[in-house]
Amino acid sequence: MTTLPDIAFDAIPRAALPALLRRMPKAELHLHIEGSLEPELIFALAQQHGVALPYADVEALRRAYAFTDLQSFLDIYYAGASVLLQAADFEAMAMAYFERAAADNVRHAELFFDPQTHTERGVPVSTVIEGLSGAVARAKQELGVSASLILCFLRHLDEASAFATLEAALPFRQHFIGVGLDSSERGNPPEKFARVYARCRELGLHLVAHAGEEGPPAYIETALDVLKVERIDHGVRCVDDPALVQRLAREQVPLTVCPLSNVKLCVFDALDKHNLKALLDAGLKVTINSDDPAYFGGYVNANYTETFAALPALTARDAYLLARNSFEASFAGDADKAVWIAELDAVFREAAARA
Ligand code: HPA
Ligand code: ZN
Repeated sequence: MTTLPDIAFDAIPRAALPALLRRMPKAELHLHIEGSLEPELIFALAQQHGVALPYADVEALRRAYAFTDLQSFLDIYYAGASVLLQAADFEAMAMAYFERAAADNVRHAELFFDPQTHTERGVPVSTVIEGLSGAVARAKQELGVSASLILCFLRHLDEASAFATLEAALPFRQHFIGVGLDSSERGNPPEKFARVYARCRELGLHLVAHAGEEGPPAYIETALDVLKVERIDHGVRCVDDPALVQRLAREQVPLTVCPLSNVKLCVFDALDKHNLKALLDAGLKVTINSDDPAYFGGYVNANYTETFAALPALTARDAYLLARNSFEASFAGDADKAVWIAELDAVFREAAARA
């Protein structure tokens, strides 16, 4: 467990939290870059490329963002991504995200991307990675935001497609640090990709997977035991298995929780019903992230501030711990982590001194 620095967290009044949550440095570890594609950019790219959209305008598209579950979202999310054709489109999408991230004091972001969403439409993986890696380099240079890419396999597709995706991406191995697993969870358990992950492990890639968003706690266990992932994306349904909760706490497995996403996709009925505080109190290594911010109503700072507003039991100490966890659970180097955590400590020390 993280030993907290000697800061007078209890002196910080709750009224100071929204500004502090926005101001504190943080990492974002669960962000689908295709889920940062705002309706305005969808329409601009559609017009540029002559792609027909089944929505009259930006407002009509936004009105369609009323989801009942994960699948109802994924259908619209894959349709939105159909306007991404050239490397410049991927770069523009990612730069728009990085500008929002910089404004939210994100120091480091690990971005998921879904090659199969694009290769199935005839867009080569080289185009996708060229555009995204160009934006990653510019984010560092122009905005001071550190970033890396994580290639996700679509779990509703088969093992052979995942292997083919990996092979097609390997010439660009230096541009991504790991692999993940996303798309329709129920009925597509982690073990479907056991051999793909074993290969990725041999290649020295970092391993993560979505599990326990809509799927059962057993999927979290097989992600850990069969795929050997280092983090669990979402994981909130672990609470259905108390022994698993104990294990996640003991092993300090990071969970990349996405509160606004969970409400939009009806994983929880409302933000004040979210189990994030309970997970923290059980000693789990929880982080806060935005998932698909263009679709779910807020970037990472909105996820922090709205969750703290909805859950009054969350404290300044929790705010510190969430940001600290985001750096510790990242795949960044130890030297970078130390710099960001020192900055985090300074921000909280100042807030406590001012109180
Ligand atoms: N879950 C699964 N797949 C996804 C998600 C998600 O929240 N966002 C984008 N692809
Ligand atoms: Zn996700």
